[in-house]
Amino acid sequence: MEIITAVKGFKDILPPETDKWRHIEDTAKDVFRAFGFSEIRVPLLEKTELFRRGIGESTDIVEKEMYTFFDRGEESLTLRPEATASIIRAYLEHTLHAAESVTKLFTIGPMFRRDRPQKGRYRQFHQIDVEILGPDDPCTDAELLIMVIHFLGRFGLKSLNLEINSLGCLQCRPAFREAVVRFVRGGEEGLCGDCRRRIDTNPLRVFDCKVDTCRQIISSAPRLTDFICAACREHFSEVGACLTRFEIPYTVNTAMVRGLDYYTRTTFEVTTEFLGAQNAILGGGRYDHLVRDLGGPDISGIGFAIGLERLAALIPEEARGGAEGPFLFIAALGEKAVDKGFSLCNALRMRGVRVEMEYKTRSLKSQMKRANRLNSAFVLILGDREIDQNRALLRNMRASTQEEVGLEGLEETIIKIAR
Ligand code: HAM
Repeated sequence: MEIITAVKGFKDILPPETDKWRHIEDTAKDVFRAFGFSEIRVPLLEKTELFRRGIGESTDIVEKEMYTFFDRGEESLTLRPEATASIIRAYLEHTLHAAESVTKLFTIGPMFRRDRPQKGRYRQFHQIDVEILGPDDPCTDAELLIMVIHFLGRFGLKSLNLEINSLGCLQCRPAFREAVVRFVRGGEEGLCGDCRRRIDTNPLRVFDCKVDTCRQIISSAPRLTDFICAACREHFSEVGACLTRFEIPYTVNTAMVRGLDYYTRTTFEVTTEFLGAQNAILGGGRYDHLVRDLGGPDISGIGFAIGLERLAALIPEEARGGAEGPFLFIAALGEKAVDKGFSLCNALRMRGVRVEMEYKTRSLKSQMKRANRLNSAFVLILGDREIDQNRALLRNMRASTQEEVGLEGLEETIIKIAR
């Protein structure tokens, strides 16, 4: 019979890769705690309207990538393609803004986008998503970026580029948008079909097109820098000044537009050449109208999301942490030995020591092979004859030494070594 495979673009994460993921998540929680963030958990399924309104009707995500279905023909629901809209929905639904003027939240979990799967791009992928709701000052933008760099620094990653840009505000962006439309209309026939369509719906997305001819055309298009209002300019230059003050290298990428419509002012991405075409480890930015657009009060926000698959791909196996083998492998030889070993194994596990053993007695050689494969620190060799003599052999696998130990008080002896 044929086996059933996973859905295309949906990936299993197997051990020991899961150890690396846990290490990343633990590090995130550790770093975020220091910066005052609390965890929020939001559902995977939301009303479709939330993403239409939040992310924007004319974005690729909403136009063609959402897993949307009618729940028994009654209500349109969507598997979340990102977490920001859901977090703000929860923030408003539970009036978190009434309790605190600054709310710092993070969540970790799967997102779903029906994009064309390729290396680094999946249909179910995972994000560590972080949001600060409340303040709109440039120091908050810098605070978030400092945290990003500190977090990535914990994995010793090299060759990361922090790119920042300002997308302006509702005052200055319309004139920029119009100028871009005027500009691309001049070379319209050189653009790909998608970009030609975008001229009317979402012209700034042309900046993000990967097609060579479009890239060439857009490379000399007007930039927001030529239209940015004084308030946005000052905000952006203060973000830059803060980053310089804390010695965080960055480059300004005036062509960065991001794929979601809610951004205003500061946007950013961290990229690396090691990821190939899908080179962004994380992306984010400020959104000063999203809370209001989702029916809430006038509250600013800024956040980012890290792609866990992409970050994990950059972290070497040795750095995964917590993946060491068992402390003890019990090699039991004979029925009595298995019986005795099973009791000891259980007692030690109850006290938090990682122990492995086999219940079918196999040769010492094959059990030692398995202990080696598991990378066990110690092996307790327990034979029926040794049990009759009230003793066993404890082998230190790292030092390649062994000693005789008495069965009396053996649990305590091992606990002492383990602690
Ligand atoms: P985004 O740029 O769409 O932003 O996604 C953030 C990160 O998620 C990307 O940089 C990438 O690492 C990862 N990612 C996105 N799509 C895929 C995929 N198909 N496969 C694998 N990884 C992927 C957002 O989602 C915003 N909600 C970020 C944000 C939070 N902005 C403000 N707050």
